[in-house]
Amino acid sequence: MIRVENLVKSFGGFRAVDGASLTIETGSITGLIGPNGAGKSTLFNVIAGVHEPTEGRVTMDGEDITGLKPHELFHKGLLRTFQIAHEFPSLTVRENLMMVPADQPGETLWNTWFGRKTIRKNEAELLKKADEVLEFLTISHLRDEKAGNLSGGQKKLLELGRTMMVEAKIVFLDEVGAGVNRTLLNTIGDAIVRLNKERGYTFCVIEHDMDFIGRLCDPVIVMAEGHVLAQGSADHIMENEAVIEAYLGTGLKNKVKAEETKEKNLHEDHGAQPGLGDEAGKGGEA
Ligand SMILES: Nc1ncnc2c1ncn2[C@@H]1O[C@H](COP(=O)(O)OP(=O)(O)O)[C@@H](O)[C@H]1O
Ligand SMILES: [Mg+2]
Repeated sequence: MIRVENLVKSFGGFRAVDGASLTIETGSITGLIGPNGAGKSTLFNVIAGVHEPTEGRVTMDGEDITGLKPHELFHKGLLRTFQIAHEFPSLTVRENLMMVPADQPGETLWNTWFGRKTIRKNEAELLKKADEVLEFLTISHLRDEKAGNLSGGQKKLLELGRTMMVEAKIVFLDEVGAGVNRTLLNTIGDAIVRLNKERGYTFCVIEHDMDFIGRLCDPVIVMAEGHVLAQGSADHIMENEAVIEAYLGTGLKNKVKAEETKEKNLHEDHGAQPGLGDEAGKGGEA
C-alpha cells in the first residue's frame, strides 16, 4: 500500500500539489483523474522520486519512502511510465525491452533502468523474457520493428512492457491513453487487467478517457488544484457535483443548468428531464 500524507510540491511560490492525501491499496487499479494542471503528474513525480516534496510524506507498506531516488524506488518495485513515451527510436522493440538496470546507484532512473549497458551474460535469458513480454502484450509481430516507427499507442504498450522486464510491484501510468486509438487502448487496458490479476501488479493510472477509467479502475481519485477532491467508484465519481464542477467549471455548469431549466420548461408536458450527467458524458467524449 502506498500512503501519501499532506503532500505539497511548490515550484517557486506556486503549489502544484497542495496538501494531497491518498492511499493506493495493494492489488488495486486506482484511477487518478482531474482537469489539466490539477497536479496529477507532479504528484506522480514526487511519489516516484523525480521531485523532492516540499512537505508531506509517502510510505510504501509502512516504510517511509519520501524523497528516495528513482533508482532506489525502482529496486523496491515502484516504477512509473511517462506522459510522453520514452523509447530508443533506433533500437528494435525487442532491443528496447532488453535494456535492463545497470544497477549503478547515483544514476538517474533513465540511465539505471534503460541504460545502454546490456548485461551480456544474461542475454539469452533477456531475449527469452523479452519475447514472453511481447507475446503477453500481443505485439510479437512488432519485435524487429524500430521503436521510432511505432504509433503512439504501440509506444505506450512498449513502456508497459518494460515494467514487465523487471519485478515491478506498483506501476504508475501517466496518461496511457493519450493519442491512442480505441483498439490499442483496449489492448493496453486488457494488459493492465491481466498484469493486475495474473501477476499481482498494483496500478495507479492517470487517464482522461472516462470509459477506460470506468472499465478498469476502482477506486477513482479526483484531483483539482493540487489536492484530492473526491474518491470512490467510477459511477459514484461521475455523479459527484464537485467533480463535474471541477471539470466543466462553474460558468459552464451554470450554463448547462440554465439550458436544462429551459428544456424542462419547454418539455414540461412530456416530462423530459435531461440530466447533467448526460451532458458531462458527452463533454468527455469530445
Ligand atoms: N517543473 C515545473 N515547474 C513549474 N511549474 C510546474 C512544473 N511542473 C508542473 N508545474 C505546474 O504545476 C501545475 C500542475 O501540473 P501537472 O502536475 O503537470 O498537472 P496535470 O498532470 O494534472 O495536468 C501546472 O500549473 C504546471 O504548470
Ligand atoms: Mg499530466
